This record gives sequence, structure tokens and C-alpha cells, in this order.
Amino acid sequence: MSLMVWDNTLALGVQAMDGEHKELLALMNKIHDGFLAGAVVNDTVARLGAACARHFADEEAFMQSIAYPELNVHKLLHKQLLEKYAHHAGAIKAGGGKANEAFFSFLKLWLVSHIKGIDAKYAAHSRGAGR
Ligand SMILES: [Fe+2]
Ligand SMILES: [Fe+2]
Repeated sequence: MSLMVWDNTLALGVQAMDGEHKELLALMNKIHDGFLAGAVVNDTVARLGAACARHFADEEAFMQSIAYPELNVHKLLHKQLLEKYAHHAGAIKAGGGKANEAFFSFLKLWLVSHIKGIDAKYAAHSRGAGR
């Protein structure tokens, strides 16, 4: 069972970033599938962490390219998310590689509130900039 299914309410209309968000979602679902099957998910958790770090860097470069005025605040939020992610990943490792509900709640909240609330703002700016 998927943790979350992609739908258009998550789409920003910035193709490259939507593509990366979809990849992150696919990895989240893979971890969730592993969790349901009782599997050790350390490797996938590490992959998702690396994919998030790459995505944030790509997103920050995109925001820079459109002269997004709230870039620094957004960067700080990314940094905090990566710190929280590392904390969860550490707890999963310490727990023998089994994921937990707190981790999935964090992922879901990140998806919904960060993509829809925070990422959506640079997408609106990018539309305003005529790109
Ligand atoms: Fe973001
Ligand atoms: Fe994003």
C-alpha cells in the first residue's frame, strides 16, 4: 500500500521540480512497502536522504535562476528538513533498520506542507516572472 499517491494538488507546474518530487514520493512509497513487509529499510532511507539533498540543491539553484526573493528562508527550511531527516534516519538505524510511524508522519507532513505551502510560492513567483 502506498504511503501517498501523487495527485495534481501536488503539482507546481515547474516540470523539473515536479519530476523530482515524484521521484521522492516513489522512494517514500518504497520505504513504506518495505515497512509493511517487515523489511530492513536502511538502504532506501539513505537513498531518499541523498535524493532529498540533491532535490533541495536543484530547487535552490532554480530559485536563484528566477531571482526568488525568499530564497534564504527557503534554504533554511531545507536545512532544517535535512536535519530532521538525519535524526529520523539515525533512529531507524538504531532500531535495527525498521521504519516507524513517526518517520512516515514526518514524510507526509513534509510533502503536504512543504510542497503545497512553501514550494508553491516559488512556483507562483516563477509564473509571475513569465517563465
Ligand atoms: Fe523546497
Ligand atoms: Fe521541493
